[in-house]
Amino acid sequence: MLFARGNRDRVLGIDIGSASIKVLELSGSGKPSVKAERYGLQVLPSGAVVDGKIKDVDMVIETLQKAIKKSGSKIKRGAACISSSDIISKVIAVQSRLREDDLLNRVEMETDRLIQYDLEEVSIDFLNLGPSVASPEEDDIQIVACRKAIVEEVVDVLESAGIEPAIVDIDIHALARIHSYMKHGLPRGKGKQVSEEDKGLTGIVDFGANATRFMVLQHGQVIFYRDTAFSGKQLIDDIREKYDMSQNEATRTLGKGGLPEDFKGEVLKPFVKTLIQETARLLRFFYSSTTYDSLSELRITGGCSQIGNLETIIGKRLNVPTHLLNPFDSVAIDSRIDKKRLEKEAATLGVACGLALRGVK
Ligand SMILES: Nc1ncnc2c1ncn2[C@@H]1O[C@H](COP(=O)(O)OP(=O)(O)OP(=O)(O)O)[C@@H](O)[C@H]1O
Ligand SMILES: [Mg+2]
Repeated sequence: MLFARGNRDRVLGIDIGSASIKVLELSGSGKPSVKAERYGLQVLPSGAVVDGKIKDVDMVIETLQKAIKKSGSKIKRGAACISSSDIISKVIAVQSRLREDDLLNRVEMETDRLIQYDLEEVSIDFLNLGPSVASPEEDDIQIVACRKAIVEEVVDVLESAGIEPAIVDIDIHALARIHSYMKHGLPRGKGKQVSEEDKGLTGIVDFGANATRFMVLQHGQVIFYRDTAFSGKQLIDDIREKYDMSQNEATRTLGKGGLPEDFKGEVLKPFVKTLIQETARLLRFFYSSTTYDSLSELRITGGCSQIGNLETIIGKRLNVPTHLLNPFDSVAIDSRIDKKRLEKEAATLGVACGLALRGVK
């Protein structure tokens, strides 16, 4: 079901994060007219998702139902995602117009080499990315494999919440999709969407609650991925420890404001310092393990990208033009949506937007 093809009916984008669940519905048929119809964000109770793994399925189902109810969406088909850290992915070049059964054999053979599990325990999917840049007579095929149990868990959560699981995607692919849409509009046809001005590399950093994820896109495709555990959870833990708060209290107060005066100097400043060091390390790793030595731009997203001026500080320290990845720069907003609230939460909605785009014709 990864990369489900064919039917592109509207789907509800469902991002089950570690800190909160976000759902979002998009409508439309082209760049200026893609519109956010409904959205809902519901914070997860502590203990529901720990270290990126669902620990309390019932709590997650209940939170998803609350998020859907908040959104008011009536869409019953969902596009959810699994975490990039749970998948193995590889792009292989195969002769163009290979017969379907030959292609399937080739994909299975490659997957068998990539993973240590039995093929029966593994969900495999692949997507034809179009002619290979290196050799145009071949097609690039992206293979994605992950343990069936991980996909099944997401499917079960959606079904229990009354949603038909139409698509199970991958978080970073959802972010890559929303970024490509913002640059070029909706993809037309199956080929790659490459324009002359898109030859550079874009880095995206998702500062989430459970991980800081860094990916590099070239021609709209993810060519590099690495994450680190230093993330928003640390900020919440620091607040809890310093002000003797529960996790829920710390999360709420950080979101709404109202932390004591010394928060900025004593807690936020050292957190930001380490966050930037960790981001610099991710970029260094990319440069040292590839032939590239620069990025054209860096886009930041995720809950911690809301920290005031983070993009300016990162841009200066890492010497790369850095901006927020705000999907609503290119997605219209329906008048039913509370715009002020959406603006506040936009940083956390990139994945849900990228998932909902799967259902926009
Ligand atoms: N106003 C704010 N300012 C700074 N940081 C914030 C703010 N609100 C939330 N955060 C941070 O953002 C984190 C949540 O980010 P996000 O919603 O992107 O996580 P998630 O998608 O649920 O988790 P993950 O993707 O890692 O599974 C919180 O842990 C918190 O540290
Ligand atoms: Mg997230």
